[in-house]
Amino acid sequence: MKEGSQNASRLPLADLVGAHEREFRARFGAGPSRVFFAPGRVNLMGAHLDYNGGPVMPTALHAGTVVALRPRADRTVRLASTLEPGEHEIELDALPLGPISSWIDYPVGVIRELATLAGREASGIDLLFGGNLPIGAGLSSSASICVATALALDRTWGTQLTDRDIVEAALSAERGFVGVQCGIMDPYAVGFARPGHLLWLDCKDASFEHLPLDPDQVVIAVADTGVRRNLAQGAFNQRVEECQRAFSALAPHAPGATCLRDVTIEVFDAYEHELPADVARRGRHVVEEVARTRVARRALLDHDLAVFGEQMSAAHRSLADLFDVSVPELDCLVDASLSWEGVLGARLTGAGFGGCAVILLRSDARDGFESYLARSFEATFGRAPEVTFFEGDPGPRELS
Ligand code: GLA
Repeated sequence: MKEGSQNASRLPLADLVGAHEREFRARFGAGPSRVFFAPGRVNLMGAHLDYNGGPVMPTALHAGTVVALRPRADRTVRLASTLEPGEHEIELDALPLGPISSWIDYPVGVIRELATLAGREASGIDLLFGGNLPIGAGLSSSASICVATALALDRTWGTQLTDRDIVEAALSAERGFVGVQCGIMDPYAVGFARPGHLLWLDCKDASFEHLPLDPDQVVIAVADTGVRRNLAQGAFNQRVEECQRAFSALAPHAPGATCLRDVTIEVFDAYEHELPADVARRGRHVVEEVARTRVARRALLDHDLAVFGEQMSAAHRSLADLFDVSVPELDCLVDASLSWEGVLGARLTGAGFGGCAVILLRSDARDGFESYLARSFEATFGRAPEVTFFEGDPGPRELS
């Protein structure tokens, strides 16, 4: 992943869009006719639950993907990014059949989805991607680019998709074309989270509601380890498979269960011994995280943010000890955060294996936190993590 993309997260959207439009003109010879945006997301509770049918509690970030475009008279699609070198060209009548392990796999997967729906109505198009979200850091840059692309193509090609269709097209591209066995959380969070709220998303039936999280009382900080693992996709799919193995073994003891989320802790305790050791540890994380996430929901509704934060920190320990997706850099950020007065909870976010930690802290405890965390991390790793205080975001939209 590209190091230079990390600092872009500090640029405000308005500044970014002007520069983005200028770069579009420089690359493609004329300015864009339309510009779209989709946010990234951070997940606070429900770690590795989405593909187990469990509940999750993410929110959207005020940083994300910008995509500028101009339709063409032919059937050629040109794709470029302000964050990556090179330019790619594909033909709508000869779309790639599989991924090429490049950032373009994400938009190309979406182009395939929408081109099928649009048929001959789909024109060629010049697309320039960019934005202010760190790439591959666990903040869902992939769902952000997929949702932004789906929205941009829908509005350009007149496919008249609903918001949910756009989210589903993004999901289908990532699963079907890119080949990540991801759950539904990321595109749903990108598509449906609202500022000042956490999204309560039930990943078994894709129903959701918005639970208030008062931005005057608490702020969400994200600290980036700077660690990027190319192996992460394979390791992620391996976790998905281990959870499936846990469910297959436990299902006969849990009548009516359709996913691991439905297996109670009592059934798990009684039959855990039938599972291979690693599979049992993954399964225990899932059933306990479902319980923690329910406690966190209750705490949020009761305005008990201390209890909410405790669930986040307990989730991190489970992700490190049972799910094996933490790294020393993430543990350091979490431990250091938790010794700062006013931090309510901290944990790794996204898949893990590097990327970011998310920290929930009282608004009045914010001053000095960033430099404290940077010093603590630097003492061990010799470099400072990027720390960003994120506001929420109203969701995917066209920028005027
Ligand atoms: C990645 C996936 C999500 C989710 C998280 C873990 O970010 O894309 O679907 O599984 O990991 O909670």
